[in-house]
Amino acid sequence: MRTNDEERMLGRLLIVDDDKLAMKQLEQALKKAGHAVTATQSGGNAQALLEKQPFDVVLAELNMDKVDGMQLLKRCRESHPDTEVILLAGGATLESAVEAMRQGAFHYLAKPCPPDEVRQVVAEALEKIRLRRERSRLREQVEGYQGAVRILTQDSRMQHLLDMARQVAPTDCNVLITGESGTGKELFARYLHHQSRRESGPFVAVNCGAFNEELLANELFGHVKGAFTGAHADKKGLLEAASGGTLFLDEITEMSPTMQVKLLRVIQEKEVLPLGATRPVKIDVRFIAATNRDVQEMVKQGGFRQDLYFRLNVVNLHIPALSARREDVPLLACHFLLKHAALMGKGVTELAADALDLLRAYDFPGNVRELENIIERGVAITTGHSIEPAHLPDDLRELSIRTFRKKAGRIPTLEKQEQDYIAWVLQEAGGNQTLAAQLLGIDRVSLWRKLKRYEVEKG
Ligand SMILES: Nc1ncnc2c1ncn2[C@@H]1O[C@H](COP(=O)(O)OP(=O)(O)OP(=O)(O)O)[C@@H](O)[C@H]1O
Ligand SMILES: [Mg+2]
Repeated sequence: MRTNDEERMLGRLLIVDDDKLAMKQLEQALKKAGHAVTATQSGGNAQALLEKQPFDVVLAELNMDKVDGMQLLKRCRESHPDTEVILLAGGATLESAVEAMRQGAFHYLAKPCPPDEVRQVVAEALEKIRLRRERSRLREQVEGYQGAVRILTQDSRMQHLLDMARQVAPTDCNVLITGESGTGKELFARYLHHQSRRESGPFVAVNCGAFNEELLANELFGHVKGAFTGAHADKKGLLEAASGGTLFLDEITEMSPTMQVKLLRVIQEKEVLPLGATRPVKIDVRFIAATNRDVQEMVKQGGFRQDLYFRLNVVNLHIPALSARREDVPLLACHFLLKHAALMGKGVTELAADALDLLRAYDFPGNVRELENIIERGVAITTGHSIEPAHLPDDLRELSIRTFRKKAGRIPTLEKQEQDYIAWVLQEAGGNQTLAAQLLGIDRVSLWRKLKRYEVEKG
């Protein structure tokens, strides 16, 4: 829906033509169509007007003394990207038309132009602006929504996890987040940060697996000028940069034993010593670490320091794999569909039922991130309003169908389950159909019909 303000805002036109008669005619035709029209005979004057107030569409004569239409077009493309330019020309040539379009004109009209045609072209330019604004508004909404860190779930264990996260967030407890790749560990870390009293402070994420020992030390601790050849200036480390906020240590188990000792010391002493510095710097940081590996096992095997593990794992949040909470698949799929449709500016609004069935049957080794990639790809390749099975990756289709078949062989049908349940209730009720119907919460006639049908099926 467009608001009145925007409605009013749209349709501010500027006409520039040194031919007074042509200018007047155009002005009249467009005023009649309800637009707010400003007209001038001078290109220089038009430039001054453009600096003073916004216009949606500029209609300019190509051939004018001093500042001509092409110059106005260039000026708009450089400084007023929202303004569309329509060029008009008396002696129109193919070359000038091509050049105008190449420079980013919305349209090129040969004079004399019939009023209807001008009005039509102006309407199209305004529609283009309207769509562009709508798209950027959607994009802002989507981005604002992401910025808010929303964790979507319908799963009771996840709900419990969220409750726990909300409880520990305001404390300064260090948290270790575990879970398979793509389950949302970083999302939870951001959530904890936003729910904490450190929200207005920085959230700094560092991937411990992405650097070798030396580089990671340099990233985390920083250095002073001259600490080594090439250290031309002081460099603040991420530990210091995160002070007052949260430091997210991703892939913590990839830290070398030496770095583990250094980090332990930082957590205990609450201070860092940049490389080459003589005095330590006090820091106030909340640590959230994450890993997709079995840390406890690593501690047992001696691959991760137990004391550091205890320091980081004051609270553990373990995020279940997506295949262990399949109810989240439709919810997340719809969320990602709307998100990527808005980002791409496409009118994709639906996930076809059979496409959803395939997703439900799939195991998602890459968890939520994989689901998001699949949906993003689907939105990108569909030409219609919905994502159909054909828009899902081939291997996913095959895998899902195989799992589905396997399960179909193993799991009894709903009808069969109902039949067995009714038989059991009837037995409990000593064969009394009225009582059995009461226990089942249906009326006697319905029960009788069901029994009849089962008999027919058996017979
Ligand atoms: N419950 C959820 N609701 C909404 N978006 C989610 C949810 N879980 C994960 N996501 C999204 O899925 C993507 C992957 O999540 P994230 O990066 O937090 O996973 P991760 O566990 O850190 O993965 P990795 O181990 O690969 O680093 C992100 O875009 C995240 O926003
Ligand atoms: Mg991550």
